Amino acid sequence: MLFDRWAIGNMELANRFVRSGTSEFASDPAGFPGEALKTMYVDLAKGGTGLIVTGYAYIREDGRSDMDQNALHTDELIEPWRAITAAVHEASPESRIAAQLVHGGRQCKPSATCATFAPSAVHDPRSGITPRAMTTEEIEGVIESFAASALRAKRAGFDAVQLHAAHGYLISQFLSPHTNRRTDEWGGSVSKRARFAVEVLRACRDAVGESYPLCAKLNCTDLLPSGIGLEQVAETAAILADAGLGAIELSAWMYEAPLELSPSRKGDLLPSQEAYFLHEARAAKRDLPKDFPVGLCGGIRSRAVMERLLEEGFAFMALSRPFIAEPDLVKRMHAGQPRVACDSCNECIEGERHPIVNCPPVREGRLYERIEHPEWATLASS
Ligand SMILES: Cc1cc2nc3c(=O)[nH]c(=O)nc-3n(C[C@H](O)[C@H](O)[C@H](O)COP(=O)(O)O)c2cc1C
Repeated sequence: MLFDRWAIGNMELANRFVRSGTSEFASDPAGFPGEALKTMYVDLAKGGTGLIVTGYAYIREDGRSDMDQNALHTDELIEPWRAITAAVHEASPESRIAAQLVHGGRQCKPSATCATFAPSAVHDPRSGITPRAMTTEEIEGVIESFAASALRAKRAGFDAVQLHAAHGYLISQFLSPHTNRRTDEWGGSVSKRARFAVEVLRACRDAVGESYPLCAKLNCTDLLPSGIGLEQVAETAAILADAGLGAIELSAWMYEAPLELSPSRKGDLLPSQEAYFLHEARAAKRDLPKDFPVGLCGGIRSRAVMERLLEEGFAFMALSRPFIAEPDLVKRMHAGQPRVACDSCNECIEGERHPIVNCPPVREGRLYERIEHPEWATLASS
């Protein structure tokens, strides 16, 4: 099952493994992608990854979260990205690569952007920022910027675009009742809170044409008591699918939610602890057509769990940290490896990320022993 082909619209995919959007910290302060990024994506392609989603790329400077973040905010970035997508396709004609587009809204770090706006002026205790509520003109301007960046992604040779509508960034801020307290046409009900995402999607569709795959990463819970609820998530997902999304990757959390619940939470997982957003993800997909491609992200580690997810109707599984440790993960799983080597130690997040995010335990030869460990076979089948 893991190696069955599938499709998002007319984009064919060779297997069910998706490298989830993972900030590589490898673009320069003007947003130009570095050489290390090309090497990382080529390695993932050679390793058999069906779909590679880039680390989040900002669509305009006031939506930037980090100084070394990817970007697609100007036409000057089309050629450098084209060189990267061409290298990926040459390394593996079967691999596909999607650009993940984001505006950070209230989660833009003050060190990376000067103005911070959001749907509503809701204080973020994590960053200490109280954003300014956006005007209608600003909302419309950001929608246009998403569309312009989606077109750039297409012209740069990306096979698809994934809108980052999860993790508390701007689209997610509009979808969440916690961060969207508006009472105009952009807030006040599930469909009004979804309007921004729908308008972004429509504008991107107009820019890239009918058949180009547009997908989204979506929170199935904000992990906040006043965040999006399970009923609301199901309705939101159905609205977005109806508006023309090609696939949804489900995740959870926003910066303000407890750190120990973050999608990249620390700690090695038993199979029973894997796929930690599964319960909420099931609710999110409740009202979607059976054949609509929905994938899950967050702590998916063993073959047995992956197979169970596909058996119950998820179309794909998206993994992040395991691909930092093993860019050739798909080939290794194909050869029978029972689970990923990554033990979620989070040294990739906490350690030195120059020139690109990496796995210190692999670099220092501390991790690969795990793959041979006899306990693994037992873990994976339990
Ligand atoms: C270093 C790092 C950078 C990340 N950057 C992004 C990102 O740019 N976009 C995104 O949607 N998620 C990002 N995430 C979250 C992951 O995509 C994923 O949702 C999370 O790590 C859970 O998956 P995992 O348990 O397989 O790592 C990042 C995670 C890590 C570890």
